[in-house]
Amino acid sequence: MRATVMKSRVRARANIALIKYWGKANPDLNTPAVGSISITLEGLWSETEVEFDLRFTSDTLVLDGDSRPEQLGRVSRCLDLLRERAGVKTHARVISDNNFPTGAGLASSASGFAALSAAAADALQLDLSPRELSIVARRGSGSAARSVFGGYVEMHAGGAADGRDSFAEPLLAADAWPLEVVIAITDRGEKAVGSRAGMERSASSSPYYSAWIATSDSDLRAGRDAILEHDFDALAEIAEHSCLKMHAVAMANRPPLVYWNPATLDCMQAVKALRATGLPVFFTVDAGPQLKAICEPSVRDAVVGALRELPGVADVIVSGLGPGVEIL
Ligand code: PMV
Repeated sequence: MRATVMKSRVRARANIALIKYWGKANPDLNTPAVGSISITLEGLWSETEVEFDLRFTSDTLVLDGDSRPEQLGRVSRCLDLLRERAGVKTHARVISDNNFPTGAGLASSASGFAALSAAAADALQLDLSPRELSIVARRGSGSAARSVFGGYVEMHAGGAADGRDSFAEPLLAADAWPLEVVIAITDRGEKAVGSRAGMERSASSSPYYSAWIATSDSDLRAGRDAILEHDFDALAEIAEHSCLKMHAVAMANRPPLVYWNPATLDCMQAVKALRATGLPVFFTVDAGPQLKAICEPSVRDAVVGALRELPGVADVIVSGLGPGVEIL
Protein backbone atom coordinates (compact mmCIF):
# COMPACT_ATOMS: atom_id res chain seq x y z
CA MET A 1 0.00 0.00 0.00
CA ARG A 2 1.45 3.35 -1.06
CA ALA A 3 1.51 6.37 1.20
CA THR A 4 -1.20 8.94 0.42
CA VAL A 5 1.41 11.62 -0.20
CA MET A 6 4.15 10.87 -2.71
CA LYS A 7 6.61 13.58 -3.50
CA SER A 8 9.94 14.11 -5.30
CA ARG A 9 12.08 17.02 -6.45
CA VAL A 10 14.42 16.84 -9.45
CA ARG A 11 16.90 19.15 -11.17
CA ALA A 12 17.23 18.76 -14.94
CA ARG A 13 19.30 20.91 -17.22
CA ALA A 14 18.62 22.64 -20.52
CA ASN A 15 20.26 21.29 -23.62
CA ILE A 16 21.19 22.88 -26.91
CA ALA A 17 21.01 20.96 -30.16
CA LEU A 18 24.09 21.07 -32.38
CA ILE A 19 22.36 18.91 -34.99
CA LYS A 20 18.79 20.19 -34.88
CA TYR A 21 15.45 18.53 -34.42
CA TRP A 22 12.71 20.16 -36.51
CA GLY A 23 9.54 18.33 -37.55
CA LYS A 24 7.43 15.55 -36.09
CA ALA A 25 6.83 12.03 -37.39
CA ASN A 26 3.79 11.38 -35.17
CA PRO A 27 2.38 14.46 -33.43
CA ASP A 28 0.32 12.35 -30.99
CA LEU A 29 3.30 10.34 -29.77
CA ASN A 30 5.53 13.39 -30.30
CA THR A 31 8.13 11.38 -32.19
CA PRO A 32 10.60 13.50 -34.16
CA ALA A 33 10.91 13.28 -37.95
CA VAL A 34 14.72 13.44 -37.61
CA GLY A 35 17.32 12.49 -35.03
CA SER A 36 19.32 15.19 -33.25
CA ILE A 37 22.50 15.72 -31.23
CA SER A 38 22.75 18.05 -28.24
CA ILE A 39 24.89 19.18 -25.35
CA THR A 40 23.49 19.41 -21.83
CA LEU A 41 24.30 22.68 -20.03
CA GLU A 42 25.55 22.72 -16.46
CA GLY A 43 24.31 26.21 -15.55
CA LEU A 44 20.72 26.36 -16.86
CA TRP A 45 18.23 24.22 -15.02
CA SER A 46 14.66 23.57 -13.97
CA GLU A 47 13.90 22.35 -10.48
CA THR A 48 10.58 20.62 -10.36
CA GLU A 49 8.67 19.24 -7.44
CA VAL A 50 5.85 16.78 -8.07
CA GLU A 51 3.53 15.81 -5.28
CA PHE A 52 0.74 13.26 -5.67
CA ASP A 53 -1.96 13.52 -3.04
CA LEU A 54 -5.32 11.73 -2.88
CA ARG A 55 -6.88 14.97 -1.63
CA PHE A 56 -6.11 16.87 -4.87
CA THR A 57 -9.11 17.09 -7.21
CA SER A 58 -7.09 18.00 -10.34
CA ASP A 59 -3.50 18.44 -11.53
CA THR A 60 -2.09 21.92 -10.99
CA LEU A 61 1.02 23.66 -12.30
CA VAL A 62 2.91 26.62 -10.91
CA LEU A 63 5.78 27.73 -13.16
CA ASP A 64 8.18 30.39 -11.89
CA GLY A 65 5.62 31.36 -9.27
CA ASP A 66 2.63 31.70 -11.63
CA SER A 67 -0.26 29.33 -12.23
CA ARG A 68 -0.07 28.16 -15.87
CA PRO A 69 -3.32 26.40 -16.82
CA GLU A 70 -2.56 26.65 -20.57
CA GLN A 71 0.49 24.38 -20.13
CA LEU A 72 -1.39 21.89 -18.00
CA GLY A 73 -2.52 19.67 -20.89
CA ARG A 74 1.02 18.64 -21.81
CA VAL A 75 1.97 18.22 -18.17
CA SER A 76 -1.03 16.01 -17.38
CA ARG A 77 -0.36 13.91 -20.49
CA CYS A 78 3.15 13.14 -19.20
CA LEU A 79 1.80 12.44 -15.72
CA ASP A 80 -0.91 10.14 -17.16
CA LEU A 81 1.71 7.90 -18.77
CA LEU A 82 3.37 7.42 -15.41
CA ARG A 83 0.13 7.11 -13.44
CA GLU A 84 -0.94 4.39 -15.85
CA ARG A 85 2.28 2.46 -15.23
CA ALA A 86 1.91 2.87 -11.49
CA GLY A 87 -1.78 1.89 -11.60
CA VAL A 88 -2.97 5.04 -9.82
CA LYS A 89 -5.23 7.96 -10.70
CA THR A 90 -3.99 10.37 -8.01
CA HIS A 91 -3.71 14.02 -9.09
CA ALA A 92 -0.49 15.96 -8.74
CA ARG A 93 0.70 19.41 -7.81
CA VAL A 94 3.66 20.46 -9.95
CA ILE A 95 5.85 23.37 -8.90
CA SER A 96 8.68 24.22 -11.28
CA ASP A 97 11.26 26.98 -11.31
CA ASN A 98 13.80 27.85 -13.98
CA ASN A 99 17.02 29.69 -13.17
CA PHE A 100 16.87 31.29 -16.64
CA PRO A 101 14.19 33.04 -18.82
CA THR A 102 11.26 30.72 -19.68
CA GLY A 103 10.01 30.24 -23.24
CA ALA A 104 12.58 32.43 -24.94
CA GLY A 105 14.37 29.79 -26.98
CA LEU A 106 16.57 28.63 -24.10
CA ALA A 107 15.11 25.13 -23.98
CA SER A 108 13.01 25.61 -20.83
CA SER A 109 10.62 22.93 -22.11
CA ALA A 110 13.52 20.47 -22.39
CA SER A 111 14.71 20.90 -18.81
CA GLY A 112 11.15 21.31 -17.54
CA PHE A 113 9.71 18.11 -18.98
CA ALA A 114 12.82 16.06 -18.17
CA ALA A 115 12.57 17.23 -14.54
CA LEU A 116 8.81 16.66 -14.46
CA SER A 117 9.07 13.11 -15.82
CA ALA A 118 11.89 12.13 -13.48
CA ALA A 119 10.23 13.68 -10.41
CA ALA A 120 6.86 12.09 -11.14
CA ALA A 121 8.42 8.67 -11.79
CA ASP A 122 10.39 8.92 -8.55
CA ALA A 123 7.39 10.10 -6.53
CA LEU A 124 5.38 7.15 -7.84
CA GLN A 125 8.30 4.84 -6.99
CA LEU A 126 8.52 3.62 -10.58
CA ASP A 127 11.88 2.11 -11.36
CA LEU A 128 12.30 3.40 -14.93
CA SER A 129 15.52 2.98 -16.92
CA PRO A 130 17.00 6.24 -18.28
CA ARG A 131 15.81 5.14 -21.72
CA GLU A 132 12.22 4.70 -20.52
CA LEU A 133 12.42 8.07 -18.81
CA SER A 134 13.65 9.61 -22.06
CA ILE A 135 10.61 8.17 -23.87
CA VAL A 136 8.23 9.63 -21.28
CA ALA A 137 9.97 13.05 -21.35
CA ARG A 138 9.69 13.04 -25.16
CA ARG A 139 5.90 13.05 -24.86
CA GLY A 140 6.10 16.43 -23.13
CA SER A 141 8.71 17.98 -25.41
CA GLY A 142 10.90 16.36 -28.06
CA SER A 143 14.07 18.01 -26.80
CA ALA A 144 13.30 16.93 -23.21
CA ALA A 145 14.18 13.35 -24.15
CA ARG A 146 17.80 14.57 -24.45
CA SER A 147 17.92 16.41 -21.11
CA VAL A 148 17.62 13.10 -19.25
CA PHE A 149 21.32 12.64 -20.04
CA GLY A 150 24.44 14.73 -19.51
CA GLY A 151 27.25 15.72 -21.86
CA TYR A 152 26.85 14.98 -25.56
CA VAL A 153 23.57 13.24 -26.34
CA GLU A 154 22.02 11.72 -29.44
CA MET A 155 18.26 11.45 -29.94
CA HIS A 156 17.09 8.68 -32.27
CA ALA A 157 14.05 9.43 -34.41
CA GLY A 158 13.11 5.74 -34.39
CA GLY A 159 10.43 4.25 -36.60
CA ALA A 160 8.27 1.97 -34.44
CA ALA A 161 4.54 2.71 -34.56
CA ASP A 162 4.38 3.02 -30.75
CA GLY A 163 7.43 5.27 -30.43
CA ARG A 164 9.42 2.80 -28.31
CA ASP A 165 12.63 3.33 -30.32
CA SER A 166 12.39 7.11 -30.24
CA PHE A 167 14.67 7.96 -27.31
CA ALA A 168 17.93 9.71 -26.51
CA GLU A 169 21.17 8.17 -25.27
CA PRO A 170 24.58 9.47 -24.22
CA LEU A 171 27.21 9.89 -26.94
CA LEU A 172 30.17 11.28 -24.98
CA ALA A 173 30.64 12.33 -21.34
CA ALA A 174 30.78 16.05 -20.55
CA ASP A 175 34.32 15.88 -19.15
CA ALA A 176 35.64 13.94 -22.17
CA TRP A 177 35.46 17.16 -24.21
CA PRO A 178 34.57 20.10 -21.95
CA LEU A 179 33.40 22.78 -24.37
CA GLU A 180 31.77 25.95 -23.06
CA VAL A 181 28.63 27.76 -24.15
CA VAL A 182 28.17 31.53 -24.17
CA ILE A 183 24.53 32.56 -24.56
CA ALA A 184 23.78 36.04 -25.83
CA ILE A 185 20.32 37.15 -24.68
CA THR A 186 18.96 39.51 -27.33
CA ASP A 187 15.34 39.53 -26.15
CA ARG A 188 13.92 38.51 -22.77
CA GLY A 189 10.31 38.05 -23.93
CA GLU A 190 8.57 34.75 -24.64
CA LYS A 191 8.60 33.78 -28.31
CA ALA A 192 5.50 34.44 -30.41
CA VAL A 193 5.46 31.12 -32.27
CA GLY A 194 6.39 27.99 -30.36
CA SER A 195 8.44 25.20 -31.90
CA ARG A 196 5.46 22.83 -32.17
CA ALA A 197 3.42 25.26 -34.29
CA GLY A 198 6.51 26.26 -36.28
CA MET A 199 7.33 22.64 -37.08
CA GLU A 200 3.76 21.84 -38.13
CA ARG A 201 3.78 24.81 -40.45
CA SER A 202 7.12 23.76 -41.95
CA ALA A 203 5.85 20.25 -42.66
CA SER A 204 2.70 21.55 -44.34
CA SER A 205 4.03 24.57 -46.21
CA SER A 206 7.83 24.89 -46.46
CA PRO A 207 9.18 23.73 -49.84
CA TYR A 208 12.49 22.98 -48.11
CA TYR A 209 11.02 20.55 -45.57
CA SER A 210 11.58 17.45 -47.72
CA ALA A 211 15.23 18.44 -48.32
CA TRP A 212 15.63 18.92 -44.55
CA ILE A 213 14.43 15.37 -43.91
CA ALA A 214 16.48 13.91 -46.77
CA THR A 215 19.77 15.39 -45.52
CA SER A 216 19.30 14.62 -41.83
CA ASP A 217 21.10 11.28 -41.67
CA SER A 218 24.29 12.63 -43.21
CA ASP A 219 24.25 15.63 -40.82
CA LEU A 220 23.85 13.29 -37.86
CA ARG A 221 26.72 11.12 -39.04
CA ALA A 222 28.98 14.16 -39.49
CA GLY A 223 28.04 15.54 -36.07
CA ARG A 224 28.51 12.22 -34.30
CA ASP A 225 31.91 11.63 -35.97
CA ALA A 226 33.12 15.15 -35.14
CA ILE A 227 32.17 14.69 -31.47
CA LEU A 228 33.69 11.24 -31.11
CA GLU A 229 36.92 12.50 -32.75
CA HIS A 230 36.88 15.82 -30.81
CA ASP A 231 37.21 17.56 -34.18
CA PHE A 232 36.22 21.16 -33.38
CA ASP A 233 36.37 22.50 -36.95
CA ALA A 234 34.24 19.67 -38.30
CA LEU A 235 31.69 20.16 -35.49
CA ALA A 236 31.62 23.92 -36.12
CA GLU A 237 30.92 23.41 -39.81
CA ILE A 238 28.14 20.85 -39.45
CA ALA A 239 26.48 22.56 -36.46
CA GLU A 240 26.24 25.96 -38.18
CA HIS A 241 24.99 24.24 -41.32
CA SER A 242 22.29 22.34 -39.40
CA CYS A 243 21.19 25.52 -37.59
CA LEU A 244 21.02 27.69 -40.69
CA LYS A 245 19.27 24.95 -42.66
CA MET A 246 16.62 24.60 -39.93
CA HIS A 247 16.01 28.35 -39.93
CA ALA A 248 15.91 28.41 -43.75
CA VAL A 249 13.16 25.76 -43.63
CA ALA A 250 11.15 27.85 -41.13
CA MET A 251 11.70 31.13 -43.02
CA ALA A 252 10.17 29.46 -46.08
CA ASN A 253 7.01 28.55 -44.11
CA ARG A 254 3.75 30.15 -45.25
CA PRO A 255 3.23 32.41 -43.41
CA PRO A 256 6.98 32.81 -42.84
CA LEU A 257 8.65 32.23 -39.51
CA VAL A 258 11.73 34.27 -38.67
CA TYR A 259 13.04 33.77 -35.12
CA TRP A 260 15.97 36.17 -35.43
CA ASN A 261 16.21 39.84 -34.62
CA PRO A 262 18.96 42.22 -35.82
CA ALA A 263 21.09 41.43 -32.75
CA THR A 264 20.95 37.70 -33.51
CA LEU A 265 22.58 38.46 -36.87
CA ASP A 266 25.11 40.81 -35.27
CA CYS A 267 26.08 37.97 -32.91
CA MET A 268 26.50 35.56 -35.83
CA GLN A 269 28.80 38.03 -37.58
CA ALA A 270 30.81 38.52 -34.40
CA VAL A 271 31.29 34.76 -33.99
CA LYS A 272 32.30 34.44 -37.64
CA ALA A 273 34.80 37.28 -37.22
CA LEU A 274 36.31 35.64 -34.12
CA ARG A 275 36.67 32.34 -35.94
CA ALA A 276 38.34 34.10 -38.87
CA THR A 277 41.08 35.19 -36.45
CA GLY A 278 41.62 31.56 -35.45
CA LEU A 279 39.47 31.30 -32.32
CA PRO A 280 37.68 27.95 -31.87
CA VAL A 281 34.07 29.13 -31.63
CA PHE A 282 30.85 28.53 -33.58
CA PHE A 283 27.20 29.49 -33.14
CA THR A 284 23.79 27.94 -33.02
CA VAL A 285 20.28 29.44 -32.67
CA ASP A 286 17.05 27.68 -31.65
CA ALA A 287 13.39 28.66 -31.88
CA GLY A 288 14.04 32.13 -30.49
CA PRO A 289 16.38 35.10 -30.99
CA GLN A 290 19.14 34.14 -28.54
CA LEU A 291 22.51 33.15 -29.96
CA LYS A 292 24.54 30.37 -28.40
CA ALA A 293 28.29 30.42 -29.05
CA ILE A 294 30.09 27.16 -28.40
CA CYS A 295 33.82 27.40 -27.79
CA GLU A 296 36.94 25.87 -26.30
CA PRO A 297 37.34 26.98 -22.64
CA SER A 298 40.58 28.84 -23.45
CA VAL A 299 38.73 31.42 -25.59
CA ARG A 300 35.61 31.79 -23.47
CA ASP A 301 36.49 35.22 -22.09
CA ALA A 302 37.24 36.57 -25.57
CA VAL A 303 33.85 35.29 -26.80
CA VAL A 304 32.03 36.78 -23.80
CA GLY A 305 33.78 40.12 -24.36
CA ALA A 306 32.95 40.26 -28.08
CA LEU A 307 29.26 39.40 -27.59
CA ARG A 308 28.76 41.58 -24.52
CA GLU A 309 29.92 44.67 -26.35
CA LEU A 310 27.26 44.37 -29.09
CA PRO A 311 24.50 46.97 -28.52
CA GLY A 312 21.60 44.51 -28.96
CA VAL A 313 22.89 42.03 -26.41
CA ALA A 314 21.04 42.51 -23.11
CA ASP A 315 22.89 39.87 -21.15
CA VAL A 316 25.35 37.01 -21.48
CA ILE A 317 25.09 33.64 -19.71
CA VAL A 318 28.07 31.29 -19.61
CA SER A 319 27.86 27.56 -18.97
CA GLY A 320 29.96 24.47 -19.21
CA LEU A 321 28.54 21.04 -19.98
CA GLY A 322 26.67 19.27 -17.23
CA PRO A 323 25.04 16.05 -16.04
CA GLY A 324 21.64 14.49 -16.68
CA VAL A 325 18.66 14.47 -14.32
CA GLU A 326 19.43 14.59 -10.58
CA ILE A 327 17.02 13.64 -7.83
CA LEU A 328 17.43 16.24 -5.09
O1 PMV B 1 11.38 20.11 -28.02
P1 PMV B 1 10.77 21.29 -28.64
O2 PMV B 1 9.38 21.03 -29.10
O3 PMV B 1 10.87 22.51 -27.81
O4 PMV B 1 11.58 21.62 -29.99
C1 PMV B 1 12.93 22.00 -30.02
C2 PMV B 1 13.31 22.56 -31.33
C3 PMV B 1 14.66 23.23 -31.42
O5 PMV B 1 15.06 23.75 -30.18
C4 PMV B 1 14.54 24.41 -32.38
C5 PMV B 1 15.74 22.32 -31.97
C6 PMV B 1 16.25 21.27 -31.01
O6 PMV B 1 16.67 20.23 -31.51
O7 PMV B 1 16.29 21.51 -29.80
